[in-house]
Amino acid sequence: MKWPAIDFGHTPYEAAFARGDVYGIGADDARARKRALSVAIAGAGGVAQAKWLPAIRYLQTRGEPVTLVAVADPRPETAAKAAMLAQAEPFADVATMLDRARPDLLLVLAADPAHVPIADAAIARGIACLIEKPLARDFREAAALVGRAAQAGVLLASVANKRFSPPYAMAKALVDGGALKAAPTVFTGKFTLGYPYVDLLEGGTVHLLDLVQWFMGPVTRLHARGVHWDDGQPRSVVISFAFASGAIGTLMTSAAGMSFKPWERVEIVGRNAFLIVDDQVETTLYDDETGPAKSWRPAVPNTLMFDEAFGGYAGLLENTLDAVRGVAPLAVPARDGAAAVGLIEAIRRSIAEDRDIDIAAEGLAP
Ligand SMILES: NC(=O)c1ccc[n+]([C@@H]2O[C@H](COP(=O)([O-])OP(=O)(O)OC[C@H]3O[C@@H](n4cnc5c(N)ncnc54)[C@H](O)[C@@H]3O)[C@@H](O)[C@H]2O)c1
Repeated sequence: MKWPAIDFGHTPYEAAFARGDVYGIGADDARARKRALSVAIAGAGGVAQAKWLPAIRYLQTRGEPVTLVAVADPRPETAAKAAMLAQAEPFADVATMLDRARPDLLLVLAADPAHVPIADAAIARGIACLIEKPLARDFREAAALVGRAAQAGVLLASVANKRFSPPYAMAKALVDGGALKAAPTVFTGKFTLGYPYVDLLEGGTVHLLDLVQWFMGPVTRLHARGVHWDDGQPRSVVISFAFASGAIGTLMTSAAGMSFKPWERVEIVGRNAFLIVDDQVETTLYDDETGPAKSWRPAVPNTLMFDEAFGGYAGLLENTLDAVRGVAPLAVPARDGAAAVGLIEAIRRSIAEDRDIDIAAEGLAP
């Protein structure tokens, strides 16, 4: 079996060794020939400043013809700081920004309740969007948004950055390359956090609800059990899945864990072979009863310029820009974001009514 080649943001071998371009910042003719695009940001708080601004800088440093033209946030000090960081014009209001700046792509990075109205403002102006998770607060709203974008012919992407994070990209390449000796038959996942203010399902587990369908295909049925905080929000949940492929799976997710300690694990079984992704850092393949396990844990060389490549943000943005240009298929259409929101709704329903949820029969499949 050939081990997949997964780049994770370090300098390409040929640049470092043959061209003496240690940081991989030399001219890249293929990138330079791409259509130049402009991007604007709606919602300039934590994830915008800590992840997406550096992801844009990472791509620019690599020679991607992309410009950040404007940022909008109703909090004046946030808009001003982000504008200073981005060297872009600040706005208090998204609609005004869109009319003035006319970006090719809007990054919707605002608080959850603002995702849909902001995306609608962009769709009305024919502007493509990449929308943070969760796509919307409920499935009906998410599916309707996807429908409006399709009707208007506007590209709508949702954030599922982990797909572009190297350990998961490696796992996917292994699965697709036949390393499990069969299509996946069983999925198990774990997600935990300790932050008291992050909603367990919409804020955190939504990442795994995307990964589970990315690796396994659509969920047809699920059953969930949960225990709750005093305010009714889920504290810990276990879910069992049936997939359209005939495979089965489980997921345990808990806000009674910790955020700075091991927190995430995905295990996928094929046929007499399985792989594990631990904490989004190490991918291990067990495919031989008597031979060694094969483990891949990326080194972090001093040529790794930004961790936004490792987090998957830069790769997701690069793909979305290429999709806007029409030179690559969109990796994470908003429909996938709606599917994850549908699973969240199914989990809540299953816990409340203690019953199996048939995703299609309950109208929760996009
Ligand atoms: N992909 C990931 O791993 C990841 C990580 C963190 C956050 N997120 C998501 O990103 C989004 C933002 O999270 P955050 O942690 O940056 O929150 P934050 O509170 O730090 O920032 C949100 C910003 O949105 C602004 N905002 C609210 N309404 C707005 C509107 N109508 N127009 C423009 N801006 C508006 C707020 O003023 C605030 O500055 C959330 O949807 C969250 O779920 C994703």
